[in-house]
Amino acid sequence: MPVAERNIASSHPLLERLADARQKSDALFSLVQEQFLYERPIPERHRIVFYIGHLEAFDWNLLNESIARVESTHPEFDRLFAFGIDPAGDGLPTDVPSDWPTLEAVRAYVSNIRSALDQHLEKAMLEKAMINPEAAGRDGFPLATLLNVAVEHRLMHVETLAYMLHQLPSTMKINPTSHQRNLRDVSGIAIEPDTVAVPAGVVTLGLPRNSSDFGSDNVFGWDNEFEANTQEVLGFTIDKYKVTNGQYLEFMAAGGYEKPMFWTDEDWEWKSSNGMNHPAFWRKEDDRWYYTTMFDQVPLPLDWPVYLSQAEASAYANWAGKCLPTEAEWQHAAYGTREGNERPFPWGDQAADSPSAKNLGNFDLRNWDPTPVNAFPEGQSAFGVHDMMGNGWEWTSSVFAPFPGFKPFSFYEGYSANFFDGKHFVMKGGSARTAACMLRRSFRNWFQAHYQYVYAGFRCVSR
Ligand SMILES: [Fe+2]
Repeated sequence: MPVAERNIASSHPLLERLADARQKSDALFSLVQEQFLYERPIPERHRIVFYIGHLEAFDWNLLNESIARVESTHPEFDRLFAFGIDPAGDGLPTDVPSDWPTLEAVRAYVSNIRSALDQHLEKAMLEKAMINPEAAGRDGFPLATLLNVAVEHRLMHVETLAYMLHQLPSTMKINPTSHQRNLRDVSGIAIEPDTVAVPAGVVTLGLPRNSSDFGSDNVFGWDNEFEANTQEVLGFTIDKYKVTNGQYLEFMAAGGYEKPMFWTDEDWEWKSSNGMNHPAFWRKEDDRWYYTTMFDQVPLPLDWPVYLSQAEASAYANWAGKCLPTEAEWQHAAYGTREGNERPFPWGDQAADSPSAKNLGNFDLRNWDPTPVNAFPEGQSAFGVHDMMGNGWEWTSSVFAPFPGFKPFSFYEGYSANFFDGKHFVMKGGSARTAACMLRRSFRNWFQAHYQYVYAGFRCVSR
């Protein structure tokens, strides 16, 4: 697989992170047997090969104007690989493998882009452009912001590509030798559900924007994270753990997929027209349920979080006589304290990328699959809610919408704004495949309500 042509990592921490992110994306593509790189594991998405080119085209289109301003070696590929697909659109893509360039050509493109960018990035560092926001960057944004965008964009794809490769048959993948599933993680023992009372409070959402810290290395945030705002929430009770596969089986046994009363009209129509009667990660054989892991199939782990679409999560909540939390409620349960303060992380101050954070949750690409929902008691929030960071994003009932004062990034106008359409819902938390840098309090993820392939579960609230 392509690797960085030059060792840029020693020049600056952000270049070190870019090199690390490239290694992670290269490692992900190397899980696919080469003859299957033109497969399309998720019908609504591009073929895998697109993403090999996309990660470099994105970096080139973002950074060249700021640091190099040189002629592209391949303008056609810069456009071909520029944009992904959001499955909210109508119709499925109809391209065929032969519509795409050869692997050899795509890999040469990747290598050339990396060489060209790295040469200029090193120079920019040497010129100390990083410490002078006016010296380099784009539209008033410092180069540090653009590099953060490049790093996080790549790491987000490393996660969403894992969703995609999860749907690829295991016979087309190469199981990494380092991957040995820990059988203790599949206990098959149901968790005893419990709830936690969360008192009323004031919640901070988003990041403050000001001239000195907007876009600086320390407080990078995407456009939708600005500006900081507060919301009051009333007291509520929330599930102590994420809803498990075992609990979801009860919903199914109660006819959850057969009774329209639990579904909105739109969700019922979607579910019915697709003939759905179980979560996408489940399989039934000989009357027994199995769970498709990244590289395997195991008897359904009853104590793992159920992964599903927001529509299915909402139907379960209706059946249970509860609701999905709002974004503000989720934020309060995760970061609030009984003293009325807010913590940087649910467990306190410890950074998510610190070595001991492995005891705090299932995140930062350590595992390919979920763990039991009670596996990380040390990571619980001040109110005693478990597993809020990692082990699966959590759906909220909040439509993805801008905070007051929102301004799109001029260099990536559609990143968030294209999804303020009332069809996408906020997800919070993170999954096993979410990099630590995106486990910040203000980070917001979103998907449309009928997307089933995301590593996302939920928990319920009562008001
Ligand atoms: Fe992208």
